[in-house]
Amino acid sequence: EIPSLKKAFKKAFNIGTALNTAQIEEKDPAQTAFITHQFNMATPENVMKSAILQPKWGEYNFEIADKLIEYGKKHSMKINGHTLIWHSQLPSFMRNIHSKDSVNTFFTNHIKTVAGRYKGKVFSWDVVNEALNEDGSMRKSVFLTYLGEDFVTEAFRLTQEASPNTELYYNDYNNEQPAKRAGCIALIKKIQNAGVRIDGVGIQGHWHVGKIPLKEIEESILQYADLGLKVMFTELDIEVLPRDFQGADINQRMTNNTALNPYPNGLPENVQQQLADDYEALFKLFLKHKDKITRVTFWGVNDANSWLNNWPVRGRTNYPLLFDRNNQPKPAFYKVIALK
Ligand code: XIL
Repeated sequence: EIPSLKKAFKKAFNIGTALNTAQIEEKDPAQTAFITHQFNMATPENVMKSAILQPKWGEYNFEIADKLIEYGKKHSMKINGHTLIWHSQLPSFMRNIHSKDSVNTFFTNHIKTVAGRYKGKVFSWDVVNEALNEDGSMRKSVFLTYLGEDFVTEAFRLTQEASPNTELYYNDYNNEQPAKRAGCIALIKKIQNAGVRIDGVGIQGHWHVGKIPLKEIEESILQYADLGLKVMFTELDIEVLPRDFQGADINQRMTNNTALNPYPNGLPENVQQQLADDYEALFKLFLKHKDKITRVTFWGVNDANSWLNNWPVRGRTNYPLLFDRNNQPKPAFYKVIALK
């Protein structure tokens, strides 16, 4: 039997995964068994985003999100709701919303309705996702434009009201990098100074093989924890495709799909090894600060369901996780599990 991550790190932090619709619907019982053996927390990869929950103005569809709650109950997995307020994957009707009043109505009703429905059912919410630019300033979005900077604090206040016993997090990527981190710390202090509760900060952790910013990550763990917050790594994966592979030319992609897979025979040994070393170094660091870290969540169960196969362009073949396309542990898995 394959060793279990959730058991190995039980005394340190929770181990989570993103779940997609097919996994939530338990289309494949073997997959459910595999998932529940490895993970004790889950984040919906897409099904709790606003475009899916509120496809039409004021009309909600909770079908799959409700199934996720059932899944969590049945398999004793805590659910991290993802995400209430985000500039991306918004309902399409938001493209036609151009007034402060309407944006405010959407903002308020969406939070009240969704956080209210899952009150006592989700363990935590990523209340606001990705509100910052790389330089630490506020990212341009429909919320910033019409509601001003305070929308972040307001989102936390409304979620707290609708779901008082749920942990509330701010989540972002690259917020371990100094400039963005400084912006993130300022944002958190603003929330705290307004007397509004925030329980934790999520560092997404979409990193690149051979380029893990260990120093910045460690500084971030310490600085965020200093604010009294729980620190989480919420969407961990390590991109293995070369950097210049990111902007693959669309014509090339249409005429020759294989051009998107630099490794048609699988991951070369040296990259596999580097991936293992990177994961090992990361988990060593996480364990060193286990008193400050409450959860490490992978953004997908195995390489086959990683979003990085389709982002930023469709059709890439990627290998960013601990399990291969047949749920077999990769060398990185064995290095990580040996650390516990
Ligand atoms: C991604 C999903 O994995 C994809 O399936 C979807 O097409 C786009 O969104 N940051 C986040 C996540 O907070 O919600 C994103 O998830 C990945 C980047």
